[in-house]
Amino acid sequence: MKFFIDTADLAQIKEAQDLGVLDGVTTNPSLMAKVGISGEAAVTKHYIDICNIVTGDVSAEVIATDFDGMVREGEKLAALHKQIVVKIPMIKDGIKAIKYFSSKGIRTNCTLVFSAGQALLAAKAGATYVSPFIGRLDDISTDGLNLISEIRLIYDNYGFNTQILAASIRHQMHIIDCAKLGADVATCPLSAILALLKHPLTDNGLKQFLEDAKKFA
Ligand code: E4P
Repeated sequence: MKFFIDTADLAQIKEAQDLGVLDGVTTNPSLMAKVGISGEAAVTKHYIDICNIVTGDVSAEVIATDFDGMVREGEKLAALHKQIVVKIPMIKDGIKAIKYFSSKGIRTNCTLVFSAGQALLAAKAGATYVSPFIGRLDDISTDGLNLISEIRLIYDNYGFNTQILAASIRHQMHIIDCAKLGADVATCPLSAILALLKHPLTDNGLKQFLEDAKKFA
């Protein structure tokens, strides 16, 4: 399973990259706003800065919601760097735009996916990635992980190449469950990736080993 980090924070991206297990980055307008990035020039520079830190795919989201606007923006974003994947919302014109980009060899990430039907459409249109938002489904008392298994089943039934990019991950159990269910990618906050490291028996065991090591040092 690939690990992406779900942030626009350069320090966090660098920390995850330095860990040696990072395969890519996802951003969205809210994450860009959170780190104070605004204006086309600043946004463009920020995407390039991210691409220079990581070696994998970097999702950059269009703001337009009409076909022509999404195509215009997406082509600009894709031209910025070979690692850029154009992130397109799951709306009617978004599906048309994904189909267009797919025919031009431009990679896409279909975002804001909350149902198996939406994921099926994204795959039919040729999306490179589909992003089911599991945490936001959990937030409304709907089983987000069930959506991952539904999409996995459908994609496997027909051999779709679209990669399932589990998004809106809140904690380490989401990552583990997504891995069990066969998600291709999990995009996670840094805290959830670092939480995978932790186990109290590891900490206690290491403490004991270091104390015992003093006896023969
Ligand atoms: C990733 O591509 C999504 O934009 C992101 O995971 C959304 O997460 P949130 O529900 O924590 O905002």
